[in-house]
Amino acid sequence: PDQLIRKSIKHGFCFNILCIGETGIGKSALVSSLFNTDFEDSPSTHFLSSVRLRAQTFELLESNVLLKLTVVKTVGFGDQMNKADTYQPIVDYVDAQFEAYLEEELKVIRSLFSYHDTRIHVCLYFISPTGRSLKTIDLLTMRSLDSKVNIIPVIGKADSISKNELQDYKKKIMSELASNGIRIYQFPTDDETVSEINTITNGYLPFAVVGSMEKVKIGNKMVRARQYPWGIVKVENENHCDTIKLRRMLCTNMEDLKEKTRAYYESYRRCRLETLGCRDIGPENKSVSLQEVIEAKRLEFCLEVERKEEEIKQRFVQRVKEKATMLEEAEQQVLTKCEHLTLMRQEEELKLGEKKKLLEDDKAHFVEKKAVTKSIQSQVSSVSSPV
Ligand code: GTP
Repeated sequence: PDQLIRKSIKHGFCFNILCIGETGIGKSALVSSLFNTDFEDSPSTHFLSSVRLRAQTFELLESNVLLKLTVVKTVGFGDQMNKADTYQPIVDYVDAQFEAYLEEELKVIRSLFSYHDTRIHVCLYFISPTGRSLKTIDLLTMRSLDSKVNIIPVIGKADSISKNELQDYKKKIMSELASNGIRIYQFPTDDETVSEINTITNGYLPFAVVGSMEKVKIGNKMVRARQYPWGIVKVENENHCDTIKLRRMLCTNMEDLKEKTRAYYESYRRCRLETLGCRDIGPENKSVSLQEVIEAKRLEFCLEVERKEEEIKQRFVQRVKEKATMLEEAEQQVLTKCEHLTLMRQEEELKLGEKKKLLEDDKAHFVEKKAVTKSIQSQVSSVSSPV
């Protein structure tokens, strides 16, 4: 056991949190409060066309124990007009982490010990402190994730809701989750060392959390708190909010959260390998080796490539034919136009020729008339002149 402890301490621990909640609900403030560290983070914009995920990894050292903490936050959650597919980028992200782990696992030379495992161990789902009911977007998102990740629902900015309203709101949320068949993470009660505290804590779900980036001097101590004109909300005071309960439960149940994550991963892995055609070798199963599967896939791929190539060729030939027909038609049109113009020109020439002939006849007639007039004039002048 000593060797294991030394090795674990030397290697450190890794924990990955996914925070889902609308913009400005208090995700960053809560994470900072939970780990008592001010993580640098800029406010998100409200104008994204789709939800994105921002992952940041921090190394926290406490009493010589290293914790590699990855915080993944949604950006622009619930800000779009059409919220139908809001959950899809989140589901894709969770699956992508499983896929990356599977790829590492299937490598010939793999190093799972030093591999940075980014699979999500817990998802803190932030519910708005409306005091009414869950929104459709909350139900849809939680339902699409409940078979992939441990969901812990939390009511964000819980200081904005009164004590009595909060209790009713919590009950309402839990009954809505149950009636919609959404499975949230339950702290394990089968281990007798933690069964009592975990049973009590399960009764606090969803946690009403308050976060703060600020520290306020109370007595001689600086504590994380939110200061209002009417008083102070202390983040670490259990009478004010459940933040400290959440922190305690995350710490004491970290291994259980990781174990459940491994179970989610196993079901992802099984489905993924089954779609690739892999089967376990059993007495009743026909044995299919990985090599056979890969060979079959390779063949399938080659056939697909050939089919696509043939399809592209056919499409190309078809397009060339279409282009040639178009060009022929265009050429024919130009020729017809040209013939038409030639005919018109010839007609015009004929008309001009006739006009020219008429003009020349007129001219000849005029010259003749002029000559006759001249001779008459000379005769008249010779007759009238005195002898
Ligand atoms: P984005 O990253 O922009 O989505 O925001 P966020 O969800 O990380 O919220 P953030 O922690 O940045 O807090 C947003 C604002 O809400 C800040 O002004 C915080 O001071 C305030 N805030 C955070 N937590 C609480 C809380 O528990 N109660 C109240 N009343 N305000 C809070």
